[in-house]
Amino acid sequence: MRRKLAAGNWKMNGTGAALAELESLSALHHAPSVDVLVCPPATLLNRAAQTVHGSGISIGGQDCHSEVSGAHTGDLSAEMLRDAGATYVILGHSERREDHGEQNEDIRAKARTAMNAGLVTIICVGESLEQREAANTLDIIGGQLSGSIPDQSTGENLIVAYEPIWAIGTGKVPTLEEIGDVHDFIRARLERRFGEGVGRSVRLLYGGSVKPGNAAEIFNVSNVDGALVGGASLKAQDFSGIISALEREVS
Ligand code: 13P
Repeated sequence: MRRKLAAGNWKMNGTGAALAELESLSALHHAPSVDVLVCPPATLLNRAAQTVHGSGISIGGQDCHSEVSGAHTGDLSAEMLRDAGATYVILGHSERREDHGEQNEDIRAKARTAMNAGLVTIICVGESLEQREAANTLDIIGGQLSGSIPDQSTGENLIVAYEPIWAIGTGKVPTLEEIGDVHDFIRARLERRFGEGVGRSVRLLYGGSVKPGNAAEIFNVSNVDGALVGGASLKAQDFSGIISALEREVS
């Protein structure tokens, strides 16, 4: 059985004042029946970990370097994230692929280092609007999966997030059928590469304009094990609505 996961990606949002939202979330979802994760900016990791301590909510980073340590000004190692209280890390988000030119092989190298450091690694894949309109979605996703996921992946250390780039922050969401098609495809690819046991145990998240109002129907789609939520994770009330929808799915 794959445990459901509601993951929030705060991106480059939030200073110390935002920890109040995390406090509210901890109060609303003390000991949730699904996994709940918040990935704040690196400057808040340590305080966020302290804020959610004892609530059952986990904390994650939004990126890490592929090297274990060294002369990389401004970068953060996987071990530093762990040390700050993170147990997860998001890698290969489309914003990092676009803003920092990250390629599949860079993401695979980062994922190896993150997994070796004991972090659960959320690898993001997703097509652009042009790629979808050209009917290239599955080719693109297939290439991202084989290129960015390392061989050492298991159901414990890997999560895959499908985030169509055109659905991020736009209010546009693929149809439920389109989401199901991509998630079924990702599942089949994982089973083919890692065998049925491991392939079936990896959790698959959908991301892109998930809100309290559309979460339940998305969670009902086959092979959707939760969501990676941007904007709606910034407010405890909104994220709580999404977590509740996921809790209803498992009850
Ligand atoms: P939104 O939920 O704001 O569309 O962002 C999705 C996302 O990129 C999460 O990583």
